[in-house]
Amino acid sequence: MAKGPSFTCTACGAVHRKWAGKCDACGAWNSIVEEAPLTAGPKALGARGKGIVLTDLATQEDPPPRAPSGMDELDRVLGGGLVPASAILVGGDPGIGKSTLLLQAAASFARTGLKCLYISGEEAAAQVRMRAQRLGLRDAPVALGAETNLRDILTTLDAERPALAIIDSIQTMWLDNVESAPGSVSQVRAAAHELVNFAKKRGVAIIIVGHVTKEGNIAGPRVVEHMVDTVLYFEGERGHQFRILRAVKNRFGPADEIGVFEMTGDGLQQVANPSALFLSDRDKPAPGSAVFAGIEGTRPVLTEIQALVAPSPLGTPRRTVVGLDSGRLSTILAVLEARCAIPFAGLDVFLNVAGGMRVNEPAADLAVAAALLSAREDVAIPPEMVLFGEISLSGALRPVSQTENRLKEAAKLGFTQAIAPSRSKLGSAEGMRVRQMPDLTAFVGEIFGAG
Ligand code: TYD
Ligand code: MG
Repeated sequence: MAKGPSFTCTACGAVHRKWAGKCDACGAWNSIVEEAPLTAGPKALGARGKGIVLTDLATQEDPPPRAPSGMDELDRVLGGGLVPASAILVGGDPGIGKSTLLLQAAASFARTGLKCLYISGEEAAAQVRMRAQRLGLRDAPVALGAETNLRDILTTLDAERPALAIIDSIQTMWLDNVESAPGSVSQVRAAAHELVNFAKKRGVAIIIVGHVTKEGNIAGPRVVEHMVDTVLYFEGERGHQFRILRAVKNRFGPADEIGVFEMTGDGLQQVANPSALFLSDRDKPAPGSAVFAGIEGTRPVLTEIQALVAPSPLGTPRRTVVGLDSGRLSTILAVLEARCAIPFAGLDVFLNVAGGMRVNEPAADLAVAAALLSAREDVAIPPEMVLFGEISLSGALRPVSQTENRLKEAAKLGFTQAIAPSRSKLGSAEGMRVRQMPDLTAFVGEIFGAG
């Protein structure tokens, strides 16, 4: 049996004999917490529990009922609306607009007749009210509370029984039976656990707001993500007005769905046609720019990939990436060098997705390669052309999913040419001249002459 307490890293699960500020196993800071030892006694080992009820897989379950908010961008990300008794985490950098989004969402839900409670632990009721009035939400029947004591909040929720409660934010909440300070790992974990349990037991949907630390984790470790049904991230670049609500986990709908918003002086406005927005400030054809026909969740989204290639004064040239995975850039540069004999040694490379968008799809490889080549050769890609395709390490182009949707969206926005991998299922791509290429070498020969 365990003697005394043990210490577990909440980031990687490693067990330590004593507490330390840094976990040796994964390098995380401040992630080690004390775990209570197993209890000895009649219930410990060998004691029999009662049998559980087993069912089969054939029993038909109704799809969960959903309450749409009326904000289409939010409803799509939720998978069609709010599922009763579900727990949702909305994470994002401080100041990105989470409170604004959720206050607008609360008002929108309340106006559909749903009973809504908004509890702010960060701002006084007067502050929230002022913001609501500025956003034109004065008449929305949202019940407002300013409190950080979770026991009081749960008691209130139990008495009020709203359909939806919004807790802003989990880092300000504290339980009186946990000794550490609000915002610490144990408080956040315990508070989230109480809220999720409450949601399930009392049938109240709960949206929990969480600030993300610099490393991209919510409250240090990702403990809260495992507990909730749905995890949404609200992201955007500072200095850009676009904000993207992205589902990274959803037990009741597709993950990777996005909703696009624009932060204005009157709060967040929904953006129904993100492609037009992301391409709106494209200038005249310039070297280093390529338009990628991508898919975000269930929706096609066109984005502009920009590259700048310049001789480097440094021994190790710079590789700067915004909005894309830097590992992916290294791979594409290596493939261009090894398979097409186009070296980037001695050249600084800057790569950027315009508009503050983040692209995670491997299908963006071809557009990235095109932007890089275009910048290096100083040859502009035709402005009416979109590209998509995954590049394999051999330099071959691999077909990607939903080719037809990508082409349709491009045609809708006035594009007339596309480069796609061979064997893509084109479907009916009306108005588009699609050229299919087997590999990167063929692409380089076609667009940039012999390379
Ligand atoms: P907020 O919702 O408080 O962010 P979070 O809860 O994620 O910390 O958003 C704050 C920012 O949004 C602040 O910098 C001001 C800006 N903002 C607007 O531009 N327009 C608005 O109508 C509102 C309410 C906020
Ligand atoms: Mg806030």
